[in-house]
Amino acid sequence: MRAVDIIARKRDGFELTTEEIAYFIEHFTSGDIPDYQASALLMAIVLRGMTRPETAALTLAMAHSGDTLDLSDITDYAVDKHSSGGVGDKTSLVVLPLVAAFGVPVAKMSGRGLGYSGGTLDKLEAIRGYRVHLTGEEFRDLAKRNGFVLAGQSLSLAPADGKLYALRDVTATVPSLPLIASSIMSKKLAAGARGLVLDVKAGSGAFMATVEDARQLAQAMVDIGVDAGRDVIALLSDMNQPLGHAVGNALEVAESIYTLRGEGPADFTTHSLAVAEAMLRLAGRGVKWTDPAQTRAELEARLHDGSALAVFRKLVEAQGGDTAMVDDPALLPTAAIIEGVTAPAGGVVQGVDAFGVARAAFDLGAGREKKTDDIDPAVGVQVFVKVGETVRVGQKIAEIHANAAARVEGARAELLRAISLGTTPHDPLPLFYGEIEGYGSTARH
Ligand code: URA
Repeated sequence: MRAVDIIARKRDGFELTTEEIAYFIEHFTSGDIPDYQASALLMAIVLRGMTRPETAALTLAMAHSGDTLDLSDITDYAVDKHSSGGVGDKTSLVVLPLVAAFGVPVAKMSGRGLGYSGGTLDKLEAIRGYRVHLTGEEFRDLAKRNGFVLAGQSLSLAPADGKLYALRDVTATVPSLPLIASSIMSKKLAAGARGLVLDVKAGSGAFMATVEDARQLAQAMVDIGVDAGRDVIALLSDMNQPLGHAVGNALEVAESIYTLRGEGPADFTTHSLAVAEAMLRLAGRGVKWTDPAQTRAELEARLHDGSALAVFRKLVEAQGGDTAMVDDPALLPTAAIIEGVTAPAGGVVQGVDAFGVARAAFDLGAGREKKTDDIDPAVGVQVFVKVGETVRVGQKIAEIHANAAARVEGARAELLRAISLGTTPHDPLPLFYGEIEGYGSTARH
């Protein structure tokens, strides 16, 4: 087999075989196929697309290009969640302890991610002492002993995806449905879950701007999961305005703790309950947790009786974090300057541009542009209003948490641009636009 022939066949619109795709990925990962040939194939895929069997083959080849996490000695049916990323999206911090509180094992290797505020690991690192770097042995030991571990990647999961993504970034080949879907799913397949909940976001603060694009991406990922023998529920959720109030690492941890106490913002609480319900539905495999309304009631009870928070506290303790910060979120890192933003006029909130809010948090130092950038855990913003709400002139609608006085006015201007007020009534935005599910495992359903 020759790489050039595979590129030519894709260029000319033929369907690649599983063997061709596996060959290409294996030899690209090992360095035998150079970047310029991989770039050519990527561009041919962008222009010609991929069939469903091709997409599944690409995903599996990438998933098997490095280590895979085998959780079979911990559970016979591991469940995981993935979010396509959004502004104020701290869902994992609430959903994972909630699910673990039901005795469902959670062993998750999470990422940092680039962007406007940190990934799950960056958020957890706002808790003093929390160790995200565990050895493989520590990871498994905690998973077995506590049924809950949340750490960085100690394995090399889907390295082909990392290599390909770096090329896509600089060759204008990111926007391709099969490439995006296979990229996300390859990492999830390598991470060992048999049941997977995908939180696919649509809106100004999301990778997919429209619901239709998000639906297509969700369907492609569900199809891959089914073809790979996994069970997948994809939730289509709104990301036109931030989720919850907080955007910024310590602020998001604090909001998660309040939510675990049953005192979180309504939208974020409802969102987290929906994701947790879907995870339990999969974990129950058609035998337990089959009635979503009943499961939601049970989940809500875990927020109010303190058991979900106790599970989170145990996680923090097991990974060396300061549990006093869980008991009292005021002890989390705080910014030197906290300034309110008030409504310049009374009216109805017409929009809270998630992207603009994210930029305000980023400019304060909450995110990173390059992998090597430092982030400041204390800084960020809080936005207290949602689309459709009525506000009074002078009402505090947002808050800036800064460590540099020079950045405050820029953030204020950004927030005032992002939060648009008007006189006409506006419906609240939906939290979800639908759900797509597919079952490919042999587990009972
Ligand atoms: N996120 C990923 O992991 N891969 C993509 O291709 C796009 C978003």
